[in-house]
Amino acid sequence: MGRKLLLANDHVPGIQSYAVYREKGGYASVEKALKTMTPEAVVEEVKKSGLRGRGGAGFPTGMKWSFLAKPEGVPRYLVCNADESEPGTFKDRYLMSRIPHYLIEGMITSSYALGANTSYIYVRGEYYYVIAILEKAIKEAYAAGWLGKNILGTGYDLDLYVQPGGGAYICGEETALLESLEGKRGNPRIKPPFPAIKGLYGCPTVVNNVETIAAVVPIVNEGGDEYAKIGIGRSTGTKLISASGHINKPGVYEIDLGVPVEEFIYSDQYCGGILNNKKLKAVVAGGSSVPILPANLILKTANGEDRLMTYESLSDGGFATGSMLGSGGFIVMDETTSIVKNLWNFARFYHHESCGQCSPCREGTGWMEKVLHKIVHGHGEMKDIDLLWDLQRRIEGNTICPLGDAAAWPVASAIRHFRHEFEEFVREGHSVKDVKHYFETNNISS
Ligand SMILES: Cc1cc2nc3c(=O)[nH]c(=O)nc-3n(C[C@H](O)[C@H](O)[C@H](O)COP(=O)(O)O)c2cc1C
Repeated sequence: MGRKLLLANDHVPGIQSYAVYREKGGYASVEKALKTMTPEAVVEEVKKSGLRGRGGAGFPTGMKWSFLAKPEGVPRYLVCNADESEPGTFKDRYLMSRIPHYLIEGMITSSYALGANTSYIYVRGEYYYVIAILEKAIKEAYAAGWLGKNILGTGYDLDLYVQPGGGAYICGEETALLESLEGKRGNPRIKPPFPAIKGLYGCPTVVNNVETIAAVVPIVNEGGDEYAKIGIGRSTGTKLISASGHINKPGVYEIDLGVPVEEFIYSDQYCGGILNNKKLKAVVAGGSSVPILPANLILKTANGEDRLMTYESLSDGGFATGSMLGSGGFIVMDETTSIVKNLWNFARFYHHESCGQCSPCREGTGWMEKVLHKIVHGHGEMKDIDLLWDLQRRIEGNTICPLGDAAAWPVASAIRHFRHEFEEFVREGHSVKDVKHYFETNNISS
């Protein structure tokens, strides 16, 4: 049984309220950091913990924090990325709505470490009810003296604001998020300069995911070394996984990094096995943007070793035989799933969400959607499969932000591992097959 850090108290009745959260030991990390540690010492603990960004890229958090520029007389900002629009990912919503003070505590401790006196939580616009929960909790934190002027009499001031997101997936990309927060259209910026040098309003800024900021609470409470004892190798600590699809127990799970994928899928402690005892066909392990893997490769690496829920193990073999941990959006597909139809669905999403700044992404996502539409509706030709491959290849690496890669990788991996399904679609025309299936299952003679 793994340790619960972030979700230790998520089922305690009334934990959304300040009173219950405090009774359960909440805000101890703020007390410890502000009263007994320098900001540099907090950064040092985060470095020691080995914590890596939980938003998808897995960049070491302590290192990111130490890049923050500190020019004299210029404000610094901490911005929490709670835009959470990656299909298959819903862990941040769970944390914020269940236990909002946890994030607020992490924001205060992290803002102190970074020397920020104004911080923001940028929340996906559709999460309006979560915004209401957070605003209520922030009000309680101000009333209890954890926010505002001279917190705990230490002379440290912090104001914390919630900003509803602009309603687009691209607003989760950190520089698009900053544009949106400044009141502009959420288009990604060209990097460099990176936000650590020139971020919000042109000032040094750290952008971190909800879960990353929440993880600072146990790191400060228990020490970075203790945190680093959980996990394997460079994948330290616990990770929230959003599990969905054809499984018996969908939901948000906090795992110790390093749990075998097979155990995560089949054990009753987690997903509880495949729905209706069907066979596992494929898994998208880290949200829709990461490569899909067939059952044999998600359970074992190409070398025959157990695949583990870590950054390294999930990407073992590169994109030829591996994938990514990403944001931990774990989508399980059983033997009845059509990989091609699922891909068409993803392609529609990326086309809709492309901001349109870079032509490879703007045009390429549209073309991929059109070609997949053609195949799915029974009008595909064999050469369309090569066209799809060519399209994704021309998008990857050729755009300002990684949305282009995110649109290309699912296409490349689906063709790499399931080319036969595309060919079958083209040969048989699945729309015809679907009508036959409809007739058969509804006892209609054709
Ligand atoms: C299209 C796109 C959408 C993204 N959406 C999110 C998001 O919703 N939440 C998030 O934390 N990171 C998202 N990211 C990653 C952020 O750009 C950034 O890497 C992250 O917020 C950094 O936080 P971390 O270091 O704590 O992971 C997205 C990236 C891209 C390219």
